[in-house]
Amino acid sequence: MAAGAEGVRGLLALLVLGVLAAGGQGTTGFIKSPLSQKRLTQDSVELYCEAIGNPIPEIQWWFEGNEPNETYAQLWDGARQDRVKINATYNLHSTSTIYIANLTGDDSGTYECRASNDPDRNHLSKSPKVKWIRSQANVFVIERPDIQTELRSAAGKLVLSCNLTETFSLIEGHEWKHGDKILQTDSESSTSTTYEIEGKEEEHSGSYQCIYKTSPEIKGEINISVVPQVVAYKKSEHGNEGDTGVLTCKNPSFPPVSTWSWYRNGKESIVNGSGRYIIKSSGNKTELRILKLNIEEDTGDYLCSATNSFGKGEATVNLRVRSRLAALWPFLGIVAEVLVLVTIIFIYEKRRKPDEVLDDDDGGSAPLKSNATNHKDKNVRQRNAN
Ligand SMILES: *[C@@H]1O[C@H](CO)[C@@H](O)[C@H](O)[C@H]1NC(C)=O
Ligand SMILES: *[C@@H]1O[C@H](CO)[C@@H](O)[C@H](O)[C@H]1NC(C)=O
Ligand SMILES: *[C@@H]1O[C@H](CO)[C@@H](O)[C@H](O)[C@H]1NC(C)=O
Ligand SMILES: *[C@@H]1O[C@H](CO)[C@@H](O)[C@H](O)[C@H]1NC(C)=O
Ligand SMILES: *[C@@H]1O[C@H](CO)[C@@H](O)[C@H](O)[C@H]1NC(C)=O
Ligand SMILES: *[C@@H]1O[C@H](CO)[C@@H](O)[C@H](O)[C@H]1NC(C)=O
Ligand SMILES: *[C@@H]1O[C@H](CO)[C@@H](O)[C@H](O)[C@H]1NC(C)=O
Repeated sequence: MAAGAEGVRGLLALLVLGVLAAGGQGTTGFIKSPLSQKRLTQDSVELYCEAIGNPIPEIQWWFEGNEPNETYAQLWDGARQDRVKINATYNLHSTSTIYIANLTGDDSGTYECRASNDPDRNHLSKSPKVKWIRSQANVFVIERPDIQTELRSAAGKLVLSCNLTETFSLIEGHEWKHGDKILQTDSESSTSTTYEIEGKEEEHSGSYQCIYKTSPEIKGEINISVVPQVVAYKKSEHGNEGDTGVLTCKNPSFPPVSTWSWYRNGKESIVNGSGRYIIKSSGNKTELRILKLNIEEDTGDYLCSATNSFGKGEATVNLRVRSRLAALWPFLGIVAEVLVLVTIIFIYEKRRKPDEVLDDDDGGSAPLKSNATNHKDKNVRQRNAN
């Protein structure tokens, strides 16, 4: 249907362009007209209008309420206690968007987009040769119905329920959402709907929505709020003397953290920028950086603490600082092992040497020499076997 509407609009635009090309100056046409809409109180609505002409036409918005005695009155940017915003552009075509925030029942009525490029269009006494062209849309503002929400926790389960307590338009189904994720959907017409989660509040904190498939759509919100469930990225961190130590804590729970703080050995508060400390906190994550790690001063327990509107949560990170040499220990160990082996082999070979020298002295011919090498190889093999 939308594609059809676009097609019709495109055709309209072509027709208008054709008319303009033929008629020349003074003609105006709409290439996009505002569309009628249904909204709930406190919602907002946006109407769009686009016109074409030479010279570029001016666009105005007019409103007529549903009271029988009401007549059209012009709307301007900032009208209705600043709830009305009009954004117009005059660049090749004229476009205008009227945006009305926080709707009330009194905003229901007919909204008219008027366009004209007649030089005398706003003259009070002269009647313009070319009148304003008009395009209308209706906005229906419906009282937002009340949805009662409830969160129960029983037998290791969380039960979220929504109850629409007033009669509203036809209900074609329900949907439960957590953020953008659809959790459950049905096509029942009941006024109440429930969603169950296995587990505890701490594991499933967040903002959940029950959506009734009505026209317009209505929604209820249930927040599962808990104190911050802080977790350390790593419970124990290792750093080398002189390097920068990085300790990280996160909070995946709802509501988000408002303030993060770090403590040394359970109580000494760490001030950002003081000494060798730098704290970086962003939303649900905090990072404590300790520059030029020192074995005596920095080894110990660090506490990250998070506060949200429900309370406080914390986690401990243990930091161990190794000496620069410590990092070399495994390597030095291997070197020492190799040295010992080489020494043993060397001594062993030294001990064997006298026999071999004797052998050599006996013959001194090439085949014997090769014999000796074979002998040596055998020794090595035997040693390996041992
Ligand atoms: C229309 O009539 C109602 C009462 O019926 C009155 O409150 C309102 O002010 C009138 N509006 C105008 C524009 O005269
Ligand atoms: C007004 O409309 C222009 C063009 O559509 C857009 O770039 C701009 O962000 C709008 N301004 C406001 C305040 O909505
Ligand atoms: C919306 O309007 C109602 C009264 O009509 C008012 O109480 C409320 O504060 C307004 N909300 C906003 C966000 O302006
Ligand atoms: C929904 O609310 C109505 C009116 O308060 C009540 O009579 C009904 O029992 C509720 N339904 C559920 C499923 O809680
Ligand atoms: C749920 O939490 C959000 C974000 O903190 C808040 O804007 C909203 O008012 C809360 N809703 C309810 C029903 O408490
Ligand atoms: C908070 O953490 C969640 C995942 O744990 C992530 O998806 C989300 O983007 C984070 N929010 C902010 C504001 O950093
Ligand atoms: C700590 O200070 C650094 C720079 O001195 C700054 O970039 C950072 O945002 C600060 N952190 C907090 C949590 O204020």
